[in-house]
Amino acid sequence: MSDILFPVKPEIAATAHVNAEQYKAIYARAATDPAGYWAEECKRIAWMKPPTRILSGDFHGDVRVKWFEDGTLNASVSCLDRHLATRGDQVAIIWESDDPNVSTKITYRQLYEQVCRFANALKVLGVRKGDRVCIYLPMVVEAAVAMLACARLGAAHTVVFGGFSPDSLAQRIKDAGVRVLITADEGRRGGRKVPLKANSDAALRQCPDVHSVVVVKVTGGDVPMQTGRDHDYATLCAAASPDCPPTEMNAEDPLFVLYTSGSTGQPKGALHTTGGYMVWASYTHELVFDYRPGEVYWCTADVGWVTGHTYIVYGPLANGATTLMFEGVPTYPDASRFWQVVDKHQVNIFYTAPTAIRSLMREGEAPVEKTSRKSLRLLGSVGEPINPEAWLWYHRVVGEHRCPIVDTWWQTENGGIMISPLIGAIALKPGSATRPLPGVLPVLVDAEGRELEGEVEGNLCIKAPWPGMMRTVYGDHDRFVQTYFSTYKGYYFTGDGARRDADGYFWITGRVDDVINVAGHRMGTAEVESALVAHPKVAEAAVVGFPHDIKGQGIYAYVTLKVGEEPNDALRKELIAWVRKEIGPIAAPDTLQWAPSLPKTRSGKIMRRILRKIAANETDGLGDTSTLADPSVVKDLIEHRAG
Ligand code: WT7
Repeated sequence: MSDILFPVKPEIAATAHVNAEQYKAIYARAATDPAGYWAEECKRIAWMKPPTRILSGDFHGDVRVKWFEDGTLNASVSCLDRHLATRGDQVAIIWESDDPNVSTKITYRQLYEQVCRFANALKVLGVRKGDRVCIYLPMVVEAAVAMLACARLGAAHTVVFGGFSPDSLAQRIKDAGVRVLITADEGRRGGRKVPLKANSDAALRQCPDVHSVVVVKVTGGDVPMQTGRDHDYATLCAAASPDCPPTEMNAEDPLFVLYTSGSTGQPKGALHTTGGYMVWASYTHELVFDYRPGEVYWCTADVGWVTGHTYIVYGPLANGATTLMFEGVPTYPDASRFWQVVDKHQVNIFYTAPTAIRSLMREGEAPVEKTSRKSLRLLGSVGEPINPEAWLWYHRVVGEHRCPIVDTWWQTENGGIMISPLIGAIALKPGSATRPLPGVLPVLVDAEGRELEGEVEGNLCIKAPWPGMMRTVYGDHDRFVQTYFSTYKGYYFTGDGARRDADGYFWITGRVDDVINVAGHRMGTAEVESALVAHPKVAEAAVVGFPHDIKGQGIYAYVTLKVGEEPNDALRKELIAWVRKEIGPIAAPDTLQWAPSLPKTRSGKIMRRILRKIAANETDGLGDTSTLADPSVVKDLIEHRAG
């Protein structure tokens, strides 16, 4: 824990949306009178029928929380229509290609027209209010168009990250009951091509209900089109009318489903609704990034993750911002790319992940220092704990001591940022997400679910509903209640541990469940394990996270082979490639150790605590191993530790 403090600079406090005094006042107001507070704040988005009933439900019983339940709206109107009169010709999206020589700009009016045309095209394919549509696209403008077009029709989108395998894509399509898929010929990242259409074709062999596929031409690669099923995006849009009235949705109607990993093998579909999510997206984007009209804002996430949903598309567009969408990676063509893009498009606000910072840090200061970065005003971090060393480098080298850093803690389930400094109000401490936003009531609880006071470490829970929270697990409300509200009665349990310091600042210590965070990507160890045991030569597998210099956590797999199978390097490579194919490249183990057997309790439960210690090479403090069925297993694993 670092105890360096960066006080709020007076010139920042003077101009920011929220200063220290205001923070105290609005925090107290939102905590004591949530209905009154959100009745005002919800006016920041466009309603067809403004809500009069603000909040119902709580974290008890079957957890049916509703926000703004008698209000009606369409999310795309807040992002598009209402800006036309005032900023129709302002740039809505700057698109920066993987190729540093290619970028395009699209105005709010142009975006509006593209969304309306594509919505009409989807209508022709049979998409209706209440349907689910799957989007499996690279980082191209059409991804944002597709999301907004679904919203316009009242169909929930489910975006699947382009790095996921055909099997992962198929699993999500089936779970969500998708019948229309939007994809591309190929994606482009770091000079390499991603075979999205080929992956889609492979996935759809398992998904007979998908009757239509829309294919965006991105690379122009030669991909087979199945007559009757596959349609070219541009041809459909050219034939469609540019006039598409928005569908009136209830505030509690679904806006999207986004799959996320938990402690079981099956990802859950986090369902977000329209009114509460949009209010949260706009509110947090404006407050945390202290967004001011005319600024250029860049979030480097992929739209396949919730960060891309809330902070590339819905938040910035609801606030009439200019949002930058980047197709590439931080290190292509070289480690200066981020900062060159910042200069090229005069970016004011920059939001990225600690893993990117750490990988650039390794390349030294020269690639940063050869750029100006004078346009930058505020820097952000998201997705995993940022170590103080990386924070300080980001602050000194990238921001030249000028730009405050907002370390934003939140989750797919939350819809948007929950704990983060507000730059005009809260002094920064490197490595701490600092304090909750007004409207967020975090608590630390002990193993019995008792609230802990003062300076303490505990399980991070949220005590009361906030508008952006997910409402259910798609198709399985019991699982929603079970996963988030049953561990500690009456609280939403985040799955994270945290420490609160003497100033009331939160320091997230990481997951306390079987979820790991690899380069900001959330993964269930159970998912990797089930991929491994699906291999014909594998008898058993146990997967844990271990500390990794760049990725935060790496994936360490212990594998027991079936009797008669020979452990060797070729098989090790084959198994890693197998997981990559089964789930996607992000899930490939960094280290794989052969385990003649796994440490288990007498009741057969794998003792992961021990496996985590061995993977981290902390074999001195293994703790109590006396409950193991066969303690000699541990000795063998330590002796043959990999990596
Ligand atoms: C998990 C959520 C937030 C959108 C991207 C990830 C970890 C996230 C931070 C942070 C420490 C963080 C937590 C959380 N996490 N942000 N600023 N400091 N940890 O969303 O995939 O749903 O993952 O990411 O462990 O539970 P996600």
